[in-house]
Amino acid sequence: MTHAEPNDIRGLPARAAALEVLTAALARRGGLDEGLSHPSMARLEPRDRAFARALAMATLRRLGPIDAALQARLKKPPPERIVNVLRLGAAQLLVLKVAPHAAVGATVDLAAAQKGGGAFKGLVNAVLRGLSREPPDLDDPVSMAPVWLFARWRAAYGEAEAQAIAGLIAAEPATDVTPKGEAGDLAAALEAEILPGGTLRVGLKGEVTGWPGFAEGRWWVQDASAAVPARLLAVGPGHTALDLCAAPGGKTLQLAAAGASVTAVDRSEARLKRVRENLARTGLSAETVAADAAAWGDRRTFDAVLLDAPCSATGTFRRHPDVLWAASPADIPKLAAVQARLLDSAAGRVKPGGRMVYCVCSLEPEEGEGQVAAFLQRRPGFALDPIGPGEGGAPEASLRPDGTLRILPHHMPGGTDGFYVARLRRHA
Ligand SMILES: C[S@@+](CC[C@H](N)C(=O)[O-])C[C@H]1O[C@@H](n2cnc3c(N)ncnc32)[C@H](O)[C@@H]1O
Repeated sequence: MTHAEPNDIRGLPARAAALEVLTAALARRGGLDEGLSHPSMARLEPRDRAFARALAMATLRRLGPIDAALQARLKKPPPERIVNVLRLGAAQLLVLKVAPHAAVGATVDLAAAQKGGGAFKGLVNAVLRGLSREPPDLDDPVSMAPVWLFARWRAAYGEAEAQAIAGLIAAEPATDVTPKGEAGDLAAALEAEILPGGTLRVGLKGEVTGWPGFAEGRWWVQDASAAVPARLLAVGPGHTALDLCAAPGGKTLQLAAAGASVTAVDRSEARLKRVRENLARTGLSAETVAADAAAWGDRRTFDAVLLDAPCSATGTFRRHPDVLWAASPADIPKLAAVQARLLDSAAGRVKPGGRMVYCVCSLEPEEGEGQVAAFLQRRPGFALDPIGPGEGGAPEASLRPDGTLRILPHHMPGGTDGFYVARLRRHA
C-alpha cells in the first residue's frame, strides 16, 4: 500500500478530492493530471493527499471489475456523480482494504455531501454492505479493460496476449529513469535495477525530485520502452537530429546527451516550456521550436528524424489507467489521419540516406503497423531499416519479422509501456 493507515483517515476532504480526480479522469483525455492538481488536492495535508491519490488510482486501475460488480447490484443506475462515489467506496473496501465500517460510513457521508445525494444514502449503504459481504473477483483480466478495447487486443494479438496485457492494468508500475551518461554510482544510489539499454528501474519511492541526482540533472524519468526509439537513431557528435512532437522532451534529452545537434518541435508552447526546463536541469542543449509539425515552414533536412506522434496512448495505461476509459473507438481513425500527415511531413525533413524513427505509445495496430505499411506504399523513397535483436534495449519478444517493434506491456518483467517502433531509411 502506498499510503499510511487508511483506517485512520475518516476525513471527508480526502474522499471528496479523490472524487474530483476520478470525475476529471473519466470526463476527458488528460483529465487525470488535471484532477491530481485540482485545488481540492492542493488543500490537503500530504498524508491525506497521498490517500486521495492512492484511492483515485486504485479505482481507475480496477474500474472494469468494480463497474461489473456495481452493475450486478444496481437495478437502475443512479446519477454519474453517485456512481463515482460508489466506485470509490468499492475501491476502499475491496482494493485498499479499508475497514468496512470506515469505508461504508465515509462513502455514505460523501454521497450525502453531493447535490441531491441525500436521496442515495440508503442505496450506497446497501450496495457497499453487499460488496463487503460477498466480495467479487477483481482480478479477472478479461474484465479489466473496456470491452471494445479488449476485443481489439484479442483481434490484434490473440486471447493469451490480450489477457497478459490486461493483467497489467491493475499493477502499480515502478519508476524508470534514463541516466544522462554512464550510470556509475547512480544505480546504487537509486536502488535501481539496470535494464537492457541502460534504463534504471528505481527501487526508491516517493517524490522523484528528492531522489539522488535529480537536482544535478543526472537523469530524467522515462519509461523503459519509451527510451528505445531514440537509441535506434544511433546519433552522435556531428549529426543533426530533429525531434518532432518533442514535449516533455525525454527523447530530445537522449538525442542531445548522445552528442547530436538537436532541434525539438512541439505544437504546444506550454509543453515546450517543460522541454526547456528539462534541458536546463540536465545541462543539455537543443533548439526548441513551437510549431505544428505538419505545417512547419522550415526547409532544413536532418540526418535523423524522430516522430513520436500523438496517439490514443493506450500503451501507457500503467501510469495513466484513465486513457483506457477516456478513449473511444472513434478516436482511432481520427488519430491515424493526423499521424499520416505528420509522417509525410517528417519524411520530407530527412536527408537522403538519413534515418527516421516513427513511434507511438499505442497498442492499436492502425496507429502503428498500419500507419507504416501505408506510408511505405505512399513513399517509395523510403524503406524499413530493420531493427536487430535486442537493439536499443528492446525486449526480444517485441521484434517482429519485418524488423519493427511491437512492445507489449508484459514483454518486460514488471511491465513496461506498450509501444510500436519502426526505423526507416530514405534512399540516398
Ligand atoms: C507522445 S507526446 C511526445 C512525447 C515526447 N516525444 C517525449 O518523449 O517526451 C506527443 C506530443 O506531440 C505534440 N503534438 C501533437 N500534435 C502536434 C503537431 N501537429 N505538431 C507538433 N507537435 C504536436 C503534443 O503537444 C505532445 O507534446
